[in-house]
Amino acid sequence: MERVIFATGNEGKMREIRAILADTYPEILSMKEAGIETDTVEDGKTYEENALIKARAVAAAAGELVLADDSGLEIDYLGKEPGVYSARYLGEDTPYSIKNAELIRRLEGVPEEERTARFVCAIAAVLPDGREITVRAAIEGRIGYEEKGSNGFGYDPIFYVPEFGKTTAELTEEEKNQVSHRGKALRLMKEELKKL
Ligand code: IMP
Repeated sequence: MERVIFATGNEGKMREIRAILADTYPEILSMKEAGIETDTVEDGKTYEENALIKARAVAAAAGELVLADDSGLEIDYLGKEPGVYSARYLGEDTPYSIKNAELIRRLEGVPEEERTARFVCAIAAVLPDGREITVRAAIEGRIGYEEKGSNGFGYDPIFYVPEFGKTTAELTEEEKNQVSHRGKALRLMKEELKKL
């Protein structure tokens, strides 16, 4: 299988995905590039369920290998919020500068050691014969005190990675892909697909 469709409309994600899958799949299409439009409701309770909902919807229209991801930010102090609701937190169309500021406000006065958080990513694959695979990975970090960095997207400017002493928005794309939830999950998925 040389071609894969990735069921996302998020360009930030597509860039990361292309960089990681390029060595295995010469052609990686977004839904838009594949000319597929779906209107799915991501109402699963887990990242895996949501990734499968997206992948199945596109697979039904495509008839070829489809991958989809679902990801989110879990902040321990907030009971793992926003979690699977990360994209919808404070409203889907609310700018991330506002979402990030609100999360920082909710952690006001919370000491460093209690600001632990992780990005989680599940990836689902639906094969042309209907087989389904899911994998999951995470990156551990802490919520910062202000936004830092302008790379990446979403919650990256407030997600501080202790090993780098930087937020994921201050990492280069290459650095982020090596350690990120999505990078790790994509590499796990590549391994699973190779076994078939
Ligand atoms: P999804 O597109 O439904 O998977 O939603 C993912 C949500 O988690 C979005 O709100 C993203 O901003 C956030 N998110 C997931 N991965 C990352 C990341 O690598 N950096 C920043 N935010 C992320």
